[in-house]
Amino acid sequence: MPVIAVIGTQWGDEGKGKIVDLLAEKARVVVRFSGGDNAGQTIVTPYGKFNLHLVPSGIFSSHTVCVIGNGVVINPAVFIDEINQLNERGVDTTRLFISDRAHLIMPYHILLDGLEEKARAGKAIGTTGKGIGPAFADKASRLGIRTGDLLDSAILMEKLRFILDYKNTILTKIYGVSPLSLDEVYSQYCQYGERLAPYIRETFIMLEEALNRKELILLESAQGTLLDPDFGTYPYTTSSSPLAGAGCLGSGLSPNRISRVLGVTKAYFTRVGSGPMPTELKDETGDLIRERGHEYGTTTGRPRRCGWFDAIGARFSTRINGFTGVAITRLDILDHLPRLKICIGYKLDGDIIAYFPSNVATLEKCQPVYEELPGWQAPTINVRQDEKLPTEARQYIARLEELISCPANLISVGARREQTILKTPIL
Ligand code: GDP
Ligand code: IMO
Ligand code: MG
Repeated sequence: MPVIAVIGTQWGDEGKGKIVDLLAEKARVVVRFSGGDNAGQTIVTPYGKFNLHLVPSGIFSSHTVCVIGNGVVINPAVFIDEINQLNERGVDTTRLFISDRAHLIMPYHILLDGLEEKARAGKAIGTTGKGIGPAFADKASRLGIRTGDLLDSAILMEKLRFILDYKNTILTKIYGVSPLSLDEVYSQYCQYGERLAPYIRETFIMLEEALNRKELILLESAQGTLLDPDFGTYPYTTSSSPLAGAGCLGSGLSPNRISRVLGVTKAYFTRVGSGPMPTELKDETGDLIRERGHEYGTTTGRPRRCGWFDAIGARFSTRINGFTGVAITRLDILDHLPRLKICIGYKLDGDIIAYFPSNVATLEKCQPVYEELPGWQAPTINVRQDEKLPTEARQYIARLEELISCPANLISVGARREQTILKTPIL
């Protein structure tokens, strides 16, 4: 059986959670491989509606093992809160495991995230404030503490004493704020350790075993391609890679194991936080999409910036990730619009370009070149077969497929599992 990587094609919130939940029914293992609790997946399940930040979206499938991979940074308080909520609502979490190599978000990461944002003043990134950037920076600087360290209190104290001393110097001398207490942080993380211990494992072995048994594995990305620190709109990005390639690094699977890469894309574009977004609509249509689509962040509640489908950005995502197919979500949100626009190029300094520039200063100058299509102005939420979609909706989908050079495997017309059209096979 193959490994399918499920990847966001845009700036996050594409509906990856819904798609992973849907596909998880057939999968044996679902692995989250990137980000942390900056992610927010809203999933409508037979148990009700859930907001997940760390737990993989396969948790509602009773036979599926869920793994939080080594590529994720974990805030233990958020994890504990999430499993408590799941358990209270009848969802079994005994099939959930955390890699012992996953790094921890510490209290100083959250403090520094806020302080660094403030220091950037007008150039703030608009982070989620969850300590994600500082945690990944510490991982790269070899100053991180991993979940595995929670299992040995002597090791935890040794690491924490050195690192906290260093962090307190930054907090007090650079930012002029109060230091954190070693005893308090240590005792708090010892308590977390006791609670997390049953979940912590060398998880890559579990994936290897599943592959040997020829079971289907899903790699679940957080965020979206255009938030990638290398290929996204740097520095207005997140701090870990959401790309298909990172699916291997963040889980311990070898690259030759990935057989399908499914891009998840909204039928329009959204972004939350700062940074360029060429097709952003700062007008009534943008407001209409936001209100109709309830486009407010799952993690922070911030209004999402809404705009027309940017085929240049989406095609770039296809090239970087090697999508073998896409899932087009939220088609229903466009049901009422009389006309739709798709960005097919950027006007830049008098020329028309058809590529996604590598630097934000250039992207800021890009003006979208649009192609217009008629809307369908009919409800799609009850449609379950491709051929039953209104003609204009099929034309819109066909044009997206053509422009992003990728077939649509799935079309989603609502948040619930069954509100999905299976257009072409993924495998
Ligand atoms: P993720 O971070 O990529 O998992 O996406 P989010 O959960 O942050 O945002 C997607 C939102 O759209 C969630 O509230 C989903 O329940 C919802 N959703 C997913 N697919 C569809 C769809 O086809 N139509 C509608 N109306 N909502 C959808
Ligand atoms: P999901 O998994 C949308 C954005 C933030 C900010 C930037 C950096 O739900 O698709 P960070 O806290 O990561 O340092 O913030 O990245 N961002 C997301 N936007 N969906 C997400 O996740 C995001 N995770 C981070 O808004 O612009
Ligand atoms: Mg989200």
